[in-house]
This record gives sequence, structure tokens and C-alpha cells, in this order.
Amino acid sequence: MTAAEKLTAELAAELDEMASKGTLKDLRVYESPQGPEVRLKGLGEVVVLSSNDYLGMADNPAVIEAGVEALKEYGAGTASVRFICGLFEPHLELERDLAAFLGTGSALTYVSCWTANHAILDALSDGETHIFSDELNHASIIDAMKLARPGGKSIYPHSDMDALEAALNEHADVKRKLVVTDGVFSMEGDLAPLPRLVELCEEHEAVLIVDDSHGLGVMGETGRGTAEHFGLHGKVDIITGTLGKALGGAAGGFVAGSGELCRILEQRSRPQLFSNGLPPTVAASARKSLNLLSEDPGLVARLRDNTAAYRDMLSEAGFDPIPGESPIVPVIVGETSLAISISKQMLSQGVFVTGFGYPVVPEGAARIRSQVSAVMRPEHLERAVAAMSAAMKSATTS
Ligand SMILES: Cc1ncc(COP(=O)(O)O)c(C=O)c1O
Repeated sequence: MTAAEKLTAELAAELDEMASKGTLKDLRVYESPQGPEVRLKGLGEVVVLSSNDYLGMADNPAVIEAGVEALKEYGAGTASVRFICGLFEPHLELERDLAAFLGTGSALTYVSCWTANHAILDALSDGETHIFSDELNHASIIDAMKLARPGGKSIYPHSDMDALEAALNEHADVKRKLVVTDGVFSMEGDLAPLPRLVELCEEHEAVLIVDDSHGLGVMGETGRGTAEHFGLHGKVDIITGTLGKALGGAAGGFVAGSGELCRILEQRSRPQLFSNGLPPTVAASARKSLNLLSEDPGLVARLRDNTAAYRDMLSEAGFDPIPGESPIVPVIVGETSLAISISKQMLSQGVFVTGFGYPVVPEGAARIRSQVSAVMRPEHLERAVAAMSAAMKSATTS
């Protein structure tokens, strides 16, 4: 057996083990754009509550049109990294609008928020940097810290501000302190305790970095994010976020902060230097989404109303979703295989909601995570609750 054959056999055994444990994920294939109702290959029409398309931008005709126009005008891209061949006008327009929307001096885009988080933590860390990070931060932050190799790091228990304060006191003499948190935690749907975070960072001269991927376009009266929700717009030092959820739904990410920060990142963050920029078509679509949101904050109000209605319907049906204010509505079911089996049964009834298990969430805390969108109608939410009730009943009685 060659080394490659041996590797393939090992991987096949791993896949078999996942299949026998019921944890192997099947990926769906779309035959229509993302939206509250889609057509899935082999499954037909289904209602979707597993997408981050919180504002329905992925299928918005103006967003699609903006992308098509940019593709025609600028082509696919520069076929190079930004520092070698430069960028297109849509990049500058998007970055300018993002900075204005978020109240920061500047913004810089990347091909994903995953990359943006890696870029910022790596570029700002050296042996005299200490990073303080919530234990439930997104995987991109966890991995970014490994890559950044700061002088030290403290992982504080989820949202435990006393623990963060103690860690800040313990490392009071460190030259550069970075506190990093998700704005909205993607698996729980809860919000970072931003008022206390801002206070602690001011008291301890730490820089606050908030990844607001699930908060942008979602939280706050006008969708400016978790900071706006808490009345702290403009008080977060650095915001990172994705363009692959509420702000367009395709891909892309950014860092928003001071002009100096973005210029330094452009000069020396490794993904800027060694990886292509955002395709101009994606930049144009994301900018259009942002503009639509700025023009119609009613979109965010509709999202809030739909979320409240869905939570009420779930409670009436006997479910006990994790409490929260975001449109992420998780219902804990326990074992990973149970979550996967419930989501499969729901899909067979025409409702697409993902079950999450270990290692994405802690063992024993597997969940069915629904995500609500501003463009859903009551019948979508009703169908989801009915399917969840039927699937839960059948899974727990079989
Ligand atoms: C909090 C958070 N940060 C970053 C990311 C990564 O975003 P992207 O898809 O743009 O890489 C996600 C996506 O799941 C996320 O939820």
C-alpha cells in the first residue's frame, strides 16, 4: 500500500465511524436562490430557517443587479493580490460606506471575515501583546489567536466580566491588551455584555475588538449592530464582520477602525499581501445591501417582529428556546445524533433547519438552531414550528 492509499484508507475509516455514529453531515444542493422558500435537489420546495440571510438580500433583485453590473464592468478580478495590481472602485465605495455606517474612520475588506479576524489579530500581536478572548468566540478568532502567537492569552468563561476583569488586573503591565469578542454569539444567539466590556477596556487601557458578523444588519434600531443595540455606537475600537450573512449573503469580510489601522493592515496583514481581494461583483452586491439597509431601517424592525412571533409560537408549542434578542433561536436537544435526526425529519417535512452537535457545540448540548429572516411570512414560521413538534415527538417516542 502506498502512503497515499494508506491515508485514503484511514480517512475512509474516519468517515465510516461518523456515519455509524449518525454524525456525518449531508450537504444539500440548491436549485434556486437562497430565501425563505427554496428548491433543493432531490427534495423539492422547502422552507429555510438555517440561513444567515437575515434581511433577504441574497435574492434581492437590486443586489443581484448591482453584482451583475460590476461583473460586466470590471470582470472577475485583477487575478492578483491588491498590493501588486491594486483594486477596483467598488472596493473603495464599499469600504467608505461600511466606515460611514459603522461610525469608524475607515474599513478594509477581505475575502471573508475568517480572513479578516486572522489578519487583525496577527498584525496587532507581538511578544508584548496579551489577548483576552471569550471562550465561546467564533472558531476564526480561536484559530487566529493560535496563528498570532501573542505574548500571552486569557480565555475567560463565556461573558464572565468578573473573570475578564481579574485577567486584566493580572496582566496590567502588558504593553498592548486586546479584548476580543463576538457581538452576537452564533450558537447561543446571546449578546456580548458590551456596556461592561467597553467600561473595562477604558479602565484597563485595552483595545476592544468586536466580531459583529451576526449583529450587523440585525441588532440596533437601524441595523448598525450590537453596539447600536446597547447605545454604544462609535464606542467599539475595532469591528470585524462578514458580508456573507445580512449584508449580501455571498462572501467577504472586513475590519473597520481608524484610518491608521486600516492602512497598516493594508501594508502588512498577511492575507492582504498574499491572497486576492474581494471579487468586485461581491463588493458591489454587498454595498447595495448596505445601501438598501440604510435607506429602509424598517427591514430590521420586520426581522425583530418575525423573531418575536417565532419565539412565541415555539413557546406555545411547548419548546423552551435559549432566551435572547437576536434572530438566532436555538432549542437544546442533547445528543448530536438526536439533533441530526430531528433536522433530517424536519427536512422530510419540507423544513430546512440545521442540527448542530459536537464539536461545533459542547458535547451533550446539541441543538436545533433556527434563524429568522425579515422576509419570512407567518406561514413559514408556522410550518417550521409544526415540523419541529412532529419531528421531536417522533424522535423521542421511537
Ligand atoms: C462570528 C463569526 N465570525 C466570523 C465568521 C466567518 O465569516 P466568513 O464566512 O465571512 O468567513 C462567522 C461565520 O460563520 C461568524 O459567525
